[in-house]
This record gives sequence, structure tokens and C-alpha cells, in this order.
Amino acid sequence: MEYEVKNTTAGTHRSACLIAGVYQDGDLPRGTADLDRASDGLITRRRRDFDATLGSSLLLFNLPGIKAERVLLVGLGPRESCTLAGLRKAVTVAVRVLAKTGVGTAATLLAELPLEGVAPGARVRAIVEAAEQASYRFEQMKSKPKSTGKQLRRLSLLLTSRSANTDAERNIEIGRAIAGGIALARDLGNLAPNICTPTYLAAEARKLARRYPTLKVRVLGEAEIQRLGMGAFLGVARGSHEAPRLIVFEYQGAARSEHPLALVGKGLTFDAGGISLKPSANMDEMKYDMGGAASVFGAVVTTCELGLKLNLVGIVPACENLPDGNAIKPGDVLTSMSGQTIEVLNTDAEGRLILADALSYAERFKPRAVVDIATLTGACVVALGHHATGLMSPDDELADELLAAGERAGDRAWRLPLWEDYQSQLKSNFADFANIGGGRDGGAITAGCFLWRFTRKYRWAHLDIAGTAWKSGRHKGSTGRPVGLLAEWLIASNP
Ligand code: BES
Ligand code: MN
Ligand code: ZN
Repeated sequence: MEYEVKNTTAGTHRSACLIAGVYQDGDLPRGTADLDRASDGLITRRRRDFDATLGSSLLLFNLPGIKAERVLLVGLGPRESCTLAGLRKAVTVAVRVLAKTGVGTAATLLAELPLEGVAPGARVRAIVEAAEQASYRFEQMKSKPKSTGKQLRRLSLLLTSRSANTDAERNIEIGRAIAGGIALARDLGNLAPNICTPTYLAAEARKLARRYPTLKVRVLGEAEIQRLGMGAFLGVARGSHEAPRLIVFEYQGAARSEHPLALVGKGLTFDAGGISLKPSANMDEMKYDMGGAASVFGAVVTTCELGLKLNLVGIVPACENLPDGNAIKPGDVLTSMSGQTIEVLNTDAEGRLILADALSYAERFKPRAVVDIATLTGACVVALGHHATGLMSPDDELADELLAAGERAGDRAWRLPLWEDYQSQLKSNFADFANIGGGRDGGAITAGCFLWRFTRKYRWAHLDIAGTAWKSGRHKGSTGRPVGLLAEWLIASNP
């Protein structure tokens, strides 16, 4: 979609539809109050038919005194509790309603909605991100696309003062760059697992390197992975005929001497559980087990688009976890790249195995900090549900940065304790430690503790996105999370 900044007053702006916010109580927001005056109080009178709860909307036609053909009122809920999240929700609703009417261009007054403690630029960014997310469609695999050309093509952001234009335009670009990263992550997640294989991911990575001169990509095949001694990664990959890939992005936006940030994403393009086979109900959803990898792709693209002045490394171990005559079995002992030996007590705890080696590999970049992103445990979904990503880190400062970035992005995480106390659950009688804790209790944390053993050489945080990377049910699909969080964190790390 196209976005532009316009300096006009609400009543005189000509457009097919003007989107205006209404609070549930008290006065109208300023732009909407202008419209109300221009139409001789018509909006005030219509408030009786419209409760203005967050998520509600009312489409009005031919308002006297107003140049726009339509006015779409969107509910903002109670004035006191209206936040950036409320603004995002209102924009989402507006885009969905307009998609049904076939209006091609619209304008909105929401860019000037007053929000406590929110910078004007952040408002613009949120509007663009929400509008892009709401108009996202995934129809690549349908023989005939369902959506017609009726979609919203252009959204004008109305600002009363010219002095805010430059800041708004810059934030439109930032919003688009973030939304582009989110859309890529959603596309990769939604693709069928027979198409989105490790080889496919590697080819997509190479495509990105051709698109951005600041980005280099290296793809390591089975032989090189073997040479590196990645016994844990290769152990998982053995159960599938699909060849594993280790994909390495290197983005250079600062001097070579500057230590990079690193993102490591779990890239299980399908997780059937291996010999510890999963039950068949909803097993299709395990195509999303590469959500961490997809978020690395998304964050890399956003970084390239914005030309951030930092160095970034993205590491994606990609393979499938299937049961096969050659697959690893419960009881097998694997030697990881770090030299530590792992007793595989459950082959379905495979994400931590491939991440272990990818995290050891990250050491060679001497990173300032490493964040891994993984659809790692069902236990994290039990703990936090589908709203918050699980964050674990021994580093309070890094944890706080990521929590704050998630808060700003509307892509929140919540911290779980990562204490030595939990480590004892991983004891093994035969190897250095096991890949699962005895018993299911604290499963998200014991998984974090397992990864911790491979990250002692740098600052590190772990994001468990098992509950947030996709939605189940009728609206099944990838969410693109936590690209928003990662992008905010990277932007904030921009010197
Ligand atoms: N990819 C799954 C985690 C998962 C499960 C994400 C359900 C989203 C929904 C992971 O590889 C896995 O199977 N984890 C096991 C670990 C267990 C065997 C210790 C789990 O959570 O059941
Ligand atoms: Mn698994
Ligand atoms: Zn998995």
C-alpha cells in the first residue's frame, strides 16, 4: 500500500473515505471534533447508534459540509485507556471494513490522535504497520487468488502542521520496513512444508543477498556441517531425506571492527517429533516450527531496508525432524560442536539440539550479544498462552532492552527465571547432560537452561515463541512475531 502525508483540515479533505476516531466517553478527538463542527454536529448525534468500543466501526455516507464521500468512524474505547495498541486495533478494523467496501483510497485523522507518552512518529509508524498487517494476504498456493483488486491502495495521513511532515515521512519508511520484514516472516511460515524446505530457505536467503548489497549470505551443506563437528544438529537431520542447511547472513552497516549483534533462529521446516512421534492432531502446524528462522529473515530484511548503522549476523540451522530407519533414537548420545555430550531422551526435543550447535557457531563472530528465537516448547504456551513470548536471559540489561522493545512494538515478551536451580533437571547417567528435564515441570525454563550451556562466551537471551509465532483455528496462519520486537531492538541499538 502507498502512504502519503497531507496537510489539510478534516472537513475540506477530498477522499473516498475519511477514517476518524471516536472515544467511548467525553469529547471527540480533535480532528473528529472538526468534522463534527463542519457537519453541524452530525457525528455527535450519530454517537447514539455507535458505542465506540475498541473494535467497533460505523460507516457514514454523504455527510453535509464534509468533502469526503464517506466517513468511517472507528471506536477507540474509553479516552483514559486509549493506547498505541488501541490505535493499532482501530486501524486494523478500518482496513478490514474498507476491504469489504472496495474503497481504493482513504485518508485518516488518526496520525494526530493524542496518546500519553507516545511520540508523533511512533503513531505514524504504528498506523503503517497495522495497515500493512491488516491487508496481508497469503494466496500463493491457491490456484485462483480470492482477493480481487478491490483492496485499499493508498492511505493519506492528515496532519494539521507542515512542521511534522519530515518526521512523519521518515516514520512511514520505518513502518514499511518493519511491515516488510513481518510479511516475509509470515510468508515463509505459511508456505507448505513440502515447499519451504531447508534448501528453499537457503535459496530465499541467497535471493536477499542479491537484492541488498550490504548483505552477504553463506550456506553450509551437510559435509561442511559435519566438518564443523555439529553432531547435535546432524543428529536431528538424519531422520529426514531432506538435506540440512546452515544459513548465515552477514549484514555490514558499520565498520568491520565493530562487533555484531547476532540472531539465531530455529529452522525446523517440519517437526513430526522423530521416533518420539507426535500425535497426529494438528500436526500440520509443525510446519511453523521454522518461525524463529523466519523471524531472523524478517529482521535481516528490515535492517537492510533501513540501512541500520550496525553489524548483524543471522544464523539459521534448518532441517526436518522425521522418524526414519536412520533417525536418532531415545538413548542415543550425540557430541555437540562444543564438545559437550548429550543424551537424547526424547527426539521431539530437537530444537535445542540444532540450536546448541548454531549457538556454538555464533562464537566465531565475537558478538556483542546473541538472541535466539525458537518455537521451542509447548510448556511455554502453557505458561504464557498466546499473547506473550517467553524471554529468558541471565543478563538483566539485555532482558530489559528486549522487554522494552517488545512493549514499544506491540509485540510483547515476558521474562521467565533462568536460574542455576533448574539445571539439575537435565542430569544424565550416561552423557554430560540430557536433552529433556526429568518430568514436564518448568519445561520452557529447562529448555532455556539447556541452551544456556552453549552460550557462556557472550551476552545472550532466548525468546520462546511457541505460543506467539502462529495462530490456530479458523484464522490459522503465521503472525510474523517477533519481527516487530527484534526490529525495535535493532533500531534502538543503532548508534
Ligand atoms: N516444536 C516443538 C514445540 C512446540 C509444541 C511448539 C507445540 C508449539 C506447539 C518442540 O520441538 C517440541 O516438540 N518440544 C517438546 C519438548 C518436550 C519433548 C520436552 C514439547 O514441548 O512437547
Ligand atoms: Mn519437537
Ligand atoms: Zn520443534
